[in-house]
Amino acid sequence: MKPSVRPASGRSKPSVPPRWRKEVESILITDAQLEKRILQMSREIQADFTGREMVVVSLLNGTVMFLADLIRSLSLPLRLDFIGVSSYGAGTESGDLVFTKELRLDVRGRDVLLVDDILDTGRTLSRVHAKIKALKPRRIKTCVLLNKSARRVEDVEADYVGFEIPDYFVVGYGLDFAERFRNLPFVAVLHPHVYKEGIKKLK
Ligand code: XMP
Repeated sequence: MKPSVRPASGRSKPSVPPRWRKEVESILITDAQLEKRILQMSREIQADFTGREMVVVSLLNGTVMFLADLIRSLSLPLRLDFIGVSSYGAGTESGDLVFTKELRLDVRGRDVLLVDDILDTGRTLSRVHAKIKALKPRRIKTCVLLNKSARRVEDVEADYVGFEIPDYFVVGYGLDFAERFRNLPFVAVLHPHVYKEGIKKLK
């Protein structure tokens, strides 16, 4: 079962640590929820990838925290490599994709687990999936922490999804806004003024 998260209200609302209150409006997914769900995901993956060594291909930079927590719960033989993808759009809109780091490991005939932080319009995952498929692996499974299906433009779904989220631009747990907030230990939504000011600075 994929948990679907909405911003909590009233008493159940997780409280934002004082250090972050000026910028963080609310916590969408707490560190405890992340830990629990990632452990479940690693069990799902483990059940599907028994025996053979797999190649985990993770997209830079947003997957750092998710990847670290996911693979340390996977008791499977694996090799790890990264693909760097950057979307040259300002602020919260994705633009054209540019590859900033290419895959080094040979994936031909191998089982590949492709990991990304968030599946939004689907452009990134479908482009990277096609790129890996052209290298002729035995199979590719895709794994994302967050799924924002409301904004999908490509016909793509991930095999393993951590959380279904509504159409908010989220930060934290590796995800950034203008390269900031990656170090938050939870997934959060910022105050509107932070997005507005950040976009002005980027322009
Ligand atoms: P697409 O639209 O290609 O998006 O599916 C995938 C990439 O866009 C970034 N992205 C976000 N980053 N908060 C972020 O920090 C978000 O809400 C968000 N939505 C999309 C992200 O890099 C992802 O890999």
